[in-house]
Formats: sequence, structure tokens, C-alpha cells
Amino acid sequence: DERTFVMAKPDAVQRGLTGEIVTRLEERGLKLVGAKFMQIDQKLAEQHYGEHADKPFFDELVEFITSGPVMAMVWQGADATRQVRQMMGATDPADAAPGTIRGDYGLDLGQNIIHGSDHEDEGANEREIELFFDEDELVEYERSDEPWVYEDEDH
Ligand code: GTP
Ligand code: MG
Repeated sequence: DERTFVMAKPDAVQRGLTGEIVTRLEERGLKLVGAKFMQIDQKLAEQHYGEHADKPFFDELVEFITSGPVMAMVWQGADATRQVRQMMGATDPADAAPGTIRGDYGLDLGQNIIHGSDHEDEGANEREIELFFDEDELVEYERSDEPWVYEDEDH
């Protein structure tokens, strides 16, 4: 099964949307295998958003992601990275479809509620998991409803 890195950003935590995010992913059938409520420091922020280092919005982005606590998570499931991105919606909440997390809760590009690994960036999911978690902080278990989510037990 694929694993992906997901984060409730500082705006989501401050607005009490952490539970809503967890609920949506949980109800979809994705499995929570790691979680850490934490404050991101400057160094980790610059590493996490390294791909945007030369963008004009980089400083703002780092300032925002370090501005308050976040909930960093690892979710597991079939095609998890791409499925979470679909549930998140477009980067700019103004363009995100209703029914998506950003489309239902955001209005501003700079404060867009949730991060999920990019499925178009090969290996981004595992790289981000490794940046935020030690392997022994991730839990292996079977969810009791898995037979009712996946037809094939070798999903
Ligand atoms: P993340 O899940 O946060 O990585 O979002 P994303 O993958 O949908 O978008 P991307 O990686 O391209 O950009 C990272 C973050 O930078 C976005 O979530 C936005 O908050 C922010 N961002 C992207 N483009 C702009 C921009 O043009 N201006 C500003 N202010 N912020 C931007
Ligand atoms: Mg991104």
C-alpha cells in the first residue's frame, strides 16, 4: 500500500479544522499510520519547501508554515498520494472545487489549509515522510473495515 505525507497547516489548526481533515481522510477509507502535533522550525520549513526556494513567495510561505502548530500525518491506502491530492483540491482555494477540502474551507492562496505530497513528483511522499518521521514512529496495523473498503485483500 502507498503512504503519503499530509499536514493540517497552521490555519487549519487555528480554525479547528484538524478533526475535519482527519475525518474526511478516515471516512474515505485511508488509514492513519502516523501523526505528530508539532511546531515547524525555520530549518525544517526551508527543507520541506526547498523546491520553492527561488520563488518570490518563499519567505511568506516559510513564515506561514512556522507561524503556529501543525498536525503532520502519514496516511496509507491504495493510490494514497493521488487520492489525497484530489480530496485537497486546487492549490488556490479560489479555484478549488466545492467538496474538496480547500474548496470547502479556504479563500486565500497563502492560507490553504492542508498540504499533501505531490503525486506528480516521483518519491515526494516517501521523502517528506522521512523528513518528518522516524520509521519507528509509524504504526503497522489492519483497520477492521478494510474488507469493506477493498474488494481484493491484496490491495
Ligand atoms: P502544498 O501542499 O502546500 O505543497 O501546496 P501545493 O502542492 O498545492 O502547491 P505548491 O507546492 O505549488 O506551493 C506550495 C505552497 O505555496 C502552496 O500551498 C501555497 O500556499 C503557496 N503558494 C503557491 N503559489 C503561490 C503564489 O503564487 N503566491 C503565494 N503567496 N503563495 C503561493
Ligand atoms: Mg506542493
